[in-house]
Amino acid sequence: MNRTKSHIAVIFGASGDLTQRMLIPALFNLHKQNLLEHPYAILGVSRTPLSDKQFRDKMQGFLPADDTTSDFLNHLHYQPLEPSNEQEYHELKEHIERIKKEKNMPGNMLFYLSTPPKLYAVIPKHLAAVGLNKEDDGFRRLVIEKPFGHNLTSARQLNRDLLKYFTEKQIYRIDHYLGKETVQNLLVLRFANSLWEPLWNHKYIDHIQITSAEKLGVEKRGGYYDQSGALRDMLQNHLLQLVGLVAMEPPTVIEADAIRNEMLKVFQSVRPLNREKLQENIVQGQYTSSLIQGKQVKGYREEDGVNPKSRTETFAAIKLHIDNWRWSGIPFYLRTGKKLPARVTEIVIHFRPTPHHLFDSAHGATNIPNQLIIRIQPDEGILLKMGLKQPGSGFTVKTVNLDFHYSDMAENYLPTAYERLLLDGINGDATLYARGDNVEKAWEIVQPILDEWDENPDFPLHGYPAGSWGPRAADELIADEESGWRYPCKNLSNDGEYCEL
Ligand code: BG6
Repeated sequence: MNRTKSHIAVIFGASGDLTQRMLIPALFNLHKQNLLEHPYAILGVSRTPLSDKQFRDKMQGFLPADDTTSDFLNHLHYQPLEPSNEQEYHELKEHIERIKKEKNMPGNMLFYLSTPPKLYAVIPKHLAAVGLNKEDDGFRRLVIEKPFGHNLTSARQLNRDLLKYFTEKQIYRIDHYLGKETVQNLLVLRFANSLWEPLWNHKYIDHIQITSAEKLGVEKRGGYYDQSGALRDMLQNHLLQLVGLVAMEPPTVIEADAIRNEMLKVFQSVRPLNREKLQENIVQGQYTSSLIQGKQVKGYREEDGVNPKSRTETFAAIKLHIDNWRWSGIPFYLRTGKKLPARVTEIVIHFRPTPHHLFDSAHGATNIPNQLIIRIQPDEGILLKMGLKQPGSGFTVKTVNLDFHYSDMAENYLPTAYERLLLDGINGDATLYARGDNVEKAWEIVQPILDEWDENPDFPLHGYPAGSWGPRAADELIADEESGWRYPCKNLSNDGEYCEL
C-alpha cells in the first residue's frame, strides 16, 4: 500500500464507539506498518473535557500493547468542542495551527465525522466559517459515515448542505463494505480474467443472489436501529454497492470516477419497483424470541431502546431487475437480516444449466447448474461448484468444489476495511468511497418500499425465530428459481462461529 502524505486527521466524535473500536486501531495498524508519513497528528474532538494525556490513556485501552504503542500514542491530541457552537471552532483552528507549527508540517487535513448524522450539516458549516475548508496550504477532506440521509429527500438535502461548504472532490462517503478485501477482489476477478467476461451476462447466468447475514441482534443500538431497519441500515447501501460491482460494465480505468460512473449506470438501470406489486418483490421480517442452544433469546421488540410495538424490519429480502443489455430478464435476489444462524456475506452467481442433459447425477437430478460463490466474510474466498465424474463405472456426475481461501495467501497481510479506507482517504483516492449521485440513486431504488411501508400499516411483517434463516415468505420470493436460496454454512459449528465455505 502507498504511504500517506504528512497530515492531521481531525476526528469528530472522538469519545464514541466507532473511533475507539475502528478508527484508532486502524490508524495504529497503519502507523505500525510505517504507512503514515511523519510528521503526522491525530486530533480527537468531542464534547467530553479531556486533556491530551487523558485522551491518550483512554485510547491506549483499545490498542494492543507492543513496542510501537507509546510512539503512536504520542501522535494523539485532543480538543474539547461543542459541535454546534461556531465560536469554539476558532479554538479548534488555533489548536491545529499550534500542532502544525510544533511539528513543522503542511496544512493537509482530513476531517472525519464519526458523529450522529444530525451533525453532518452543522460541522462542515462551522469548519467553513473559520476557513478550515479552504485548501490554501494543503488538502482539506471531509469523511462521513452512513447513514447518508433517511430517505431520498433527506439524502438530497444532505448533499446540498455538504456542497455549500465542501466540493464533491473533497467529500468522502464511507461505505465500509467497499473497503473489504474480497469486495475489491470482485473487480479483479471480473476484469483481470478473460474466463468470466464472456459468461457474465443474461445468456449464461440464470440469476444472482446476495446474502448478508448477521448472527448478532441490535445489541446496544436499539434506539438507532428502531428508526432505521434492515432496508436502510444494510440493503440501501452495502448490498446495493455489491450489486453495482457485480453488474457494472468494465470501467475504462481503475480510477474513482470511472468506476463510480459505471456503478451509477447500474443503479440507473434498476427497474423501478411498482408499489402495486411490491409484495411480490420484497419481504420484511422481524426476529422473535426463541430458544438457541438451550438459551432463551430476546425477540426484537424486547430489546433495549426498541418500541415494544415496533414494526421495524430486522430482515429484508428483495428481488430486483436490471433493465440493460447485459442483464435483461435476470433476477437479482438480495437478503439481509439480524439474528440469523451465522455471520456470512456472499454473492452467488447461478449459471444456467447445460442445454441438454447427457449424464445422470449422483442425486438423481440431471441438472447440475454451476455456481460461483464469492465469499466476502468470514473465511473470505471463492468457490466454483461444478459437475465431475464420480469414480467407478458409468458416467454419474457429482457436484465438486474448486475452492480458494484467502487465508491460503497467509504471507499477505489482510488490512481491515477501515485501514484501507483511511489510507485511501488520506491519499486522495476516492475509488472505494460512494459518490453523492450514486447515493441518491440508491435511495431512489428503495424509496417506493419506504413509502409503502409508511403508508400501509397492513403490509406483511413476518416474524422469524431468532437463530433461523428468516421468514418463510423469503423462500416464496425466490420460488421461481429451482435452487431456492443457497443456505450457506452447511457445516456450521455449534457456536455458529465457524461457517465453512
Ligand atoms: C453497519 C450496520 O453498516 O454494518 C450494522 O449499521 C451492521 O447494523 C454492520 O451490523 C455490518 O458490517 P459487517 O462488516 O460486520 O458486515
